[in-house]
Amino acid sequence: MITKTSPEIGGMGHSIKRKEDSRFIQGKGNYVDDVHLPGMVYGHMVRSPYAHARLKSINTEKAKQLPGVLAVITGEDLAKANLAWMPTLFFDKQMVLATGKVLFQAQEVAFVVAQDQYTAADAAELVEVEYEELPVLVDPHRATDPGSPILREDREEKSNHIFHWEVGDKAATDKAFQSAPVKASVHAISQRCHPAPLETCGCVADFNRATEKLTVYLTSQAPHAHRTLFSIVGGIPEQNIRVVSPDIGGGFGNKVPIYPGYVCAVVASLTLGLPVKWIETRSENLQSTGFARDYHMTAEIAADQNGKVKALRVKTLADHGAFNAAAQPTKFPAGLFSMCTGSYDFAASFCEVDGVYTNKAPGGIAYRCSFRITEAAYLIERVVDILAGQLKIDPAELRRRNFIQPDQFPYKTPLGWTYDSGNYEGALNKALEMVGYTQLRKEQEEKRKKGELMGIGISSFTEAVGAGPAHTFDIAGIKMFDSAEIRVHPTGKAICRMGTKSQGQGHETTYAQIVAQELGIPASDVIVEEGDTDTAPYGLGTYASRSTPTSGAATAMAARKIRDKAKKIAAHLLECSEEDLEWEPGKFFVKGAPSKSKSIQEIAFAAYTNIPAGLEAGLEAVNYYDPPNLTFPFGTYICVLDIDKGTGEIKVRRFVAVDDCGNVINPMIVQGQIHGGLTEGLAIAFMQLIDYDENGNVQGGSFMDYLIPTAVETPHWETGSTCTPSPHHPFGAKGVGESPNVGSPAAFVNAVVDALSHLGVKHIDMPITPWKVWNVLKEKGVVS
Ligand code: CDP
Repeated sequence: MITKTSPEIGGMGHSIKRKEDSRFIQGKGNYVDDVHLPGMVYGHMVRSPYAHARLKSINTEKAKQLPGVLAVITGEDLAKANLAWMPTLFFDKQMVLATGKVLFQAQEVAFVVAQDQYTAADAAELVEVEYEELPVLVDPHRATDPGSPILREDREEKSNHIFHWEVGDKAATDKAFQSAPVKASVHAISQRCHPAPLETCGCVADFNRATEKLTVYLTSQAPHAHRTLFSIVGGIPEQNIRVVSPDIGGGFGNKVPIYPGYVCAVVASLTLGLPVKWIETRSENLQSTGFARDYHMTAEIAADQNGKVKALRVKTLADHGAFNAAAQPTKFPAGLFSMCTGSYDFAASFCEVDGVYTNKAPGGIAYRCSFRITEAAYLIERVVDILAGQLKIDPAELRRRNFIQPDQFPYKTPLGWTYDSGNYEGALNKALEMVGYTQLRKEQEEKRKKGELMGIGISSFTEAVGAGPAHTFDIAGIKMFDSAEIRVHPTGKAICRMGTKSQGQGHETTYAQIVAQELGIPASDVIVEEGDTDTAPYGLGTYASRSTPTSGAATAMAARKIRDKAKKIAAHLLECSEEDLEWEPGKFFVKGAPSKSKSIQEIAFAAYTNIPAGLEAGLEAVNYYDPPNLTFPFGTYICVLDIDKGTGEIKVRRFVAVDDCGNVINPMIVQGQIHGGLTEGLAIAFMQLIDYDENGNVQGGSFMDYLIPTAVETPHWETGSTCTPSPHHPFGAKGVGESPNVGSPAAFVNAVVDALSHLGVKHIDMPITPWKVWNVLKEKGVVS
């Protein structure tokens, strides 16, 4: 087993390889929308304008009469094939097309198929639906009120309550609170937001009546899991389904669930025998596909006078919208929210979550986070800051006093997780040094005297990424492991096929680097392929920063199998015993006689031309890697900002991000991941909310209202790192892609609250817009 430090493994080549594979499609690019197949037709959704209404009638006649229209499918049509409802990823069920009633605005009501997308959209306008409005439930806090409408008439339980979930030791936690001299608390909302990938969701379903084979080009982060679910739900033999997920323009969790549009396109293709394309519009994506967050959380800390924490108590209300379509392991109704003890050494903790239905789009997906860990990290980092403020202890110092110490790893949290490794103080110290913390605090003091508003916010988060292990983690019952298959060709070049699926994270580069590191084949000689279920080994896909901890590990393990076989061939070629051989990346040589060597390329050639007796020909291996544990990356982020007293406008002046993801494969890609995630964290902290009015009308359904940060709003990110390898990963790496989105919202909010703390401000909910800040300043008499 090798444990490399970051520069060495990164040193195998830093350039970004462009994927040049356009086998799947002929078009301008390599995305689903670029797929153009002979005879292809187009689908368009008819959607409900109401959030809660009974469907009185649907008249499709006028739409069907429009020239170019091939079919109009309704919920009643699907019901005849038992397809009006589909299972969600969380053992709930969801309407594909509405029958009986609609439960959220923009819900799918009918699917129109026409020869071009303009005709399909025009025909959708001609579908006449008669609705009878029903009382709407928007506020999750009212979901279980006796007077609230019961939304899900399909369920036996006549209640909007979905689940109650609790973990931890309630008695020990309550006891600690009874005797604690200090208590701090916060009520914080991790607001409903949306990943808003630049490419919306979509598919081309192509059923070939001659071969009975269904090919689905799909914006899928989990192509194999989707193939299996298509087979189970649709009754199509799995060997007859091929899911191809070409390049993806951002996933962030949005492309993990199966959406009604995919199912309708498949049904239409099966019915018509033609390829059917369905691509969502921007508003459809924001209004109806899986939302993220919507956690309404209360956290309380019990501590002593020195700020040493004793216990954590968390109570949360989770708004799941109309269907519980959470994309998370089935053992965890609230995902990894029980990671809420964060980086701190609590003796006791208790966490409970209740999920409820409302008249909103279903979810919630893990938006660039490991199944609800962003909510958890935000909560703990907020309440720790509040405790520091209450005790007038510097927030960096308070964190330091409570961190889990390096010698406590592997560390078991009171809520049941076992952290693999960490050095939280190391990351904090580096961030403090990079930002010049002491000097900044002095500057803040001076500014306050002059009436200026400057804030410094710290977040020392812990992430948990890399699901499996398979015994604990699954998606819709399919166990979470992941895979890699490496084939070395006679000329020493290689192809590596994976169970994961990049959405722009650079897998084509980094997996090739792992092969290079393990086998000494140059990264430029390795092709990496993902996303075609006919060729790639089975895997659970890419989300929750799981690729490096799972498929990255599988790549190393498969390469090591190849190296073991290569050793046998080298011994045969060098006429020595295997024990006499030593390895250095790229060649085996005879111990003490380095000139007597065989390169991996020579060995590969021999694997097909000069095989030792008793050995199989060829040089390839596959590995299905079931990790023994998650990996636990961490870091400290520090935000420095100034607030304009006149307008409430916030300017992020500095942002230092120190991340620790163990050994790094490619420093440039990791930095890119951090930049992207921080930008999304900034957007969530300051700009983004999918809001609803009292009638359930979506307020953030377009980019006019749902804001995406551009280069103008985005500050310069200053990144740094520490390196604490994962002890159980084959080359000591931890995942990283989501850390910046998990860790940063708290740093931004803590900085705003810090800037206003001397005015008595303890908390402001995200998104912290200038309008919100201005109102706080007005309330505090700073502006009139
Ligand atoms: O699953 P996903 O690819 O989104 O997340 P990840 O495993 O955190 O990897 C994101 C990108 O960063 C991939 O290209 C990884 O290979 C790369 N990475 C790295 O170079 N070194 C690490 N220790 C972790 C990730």
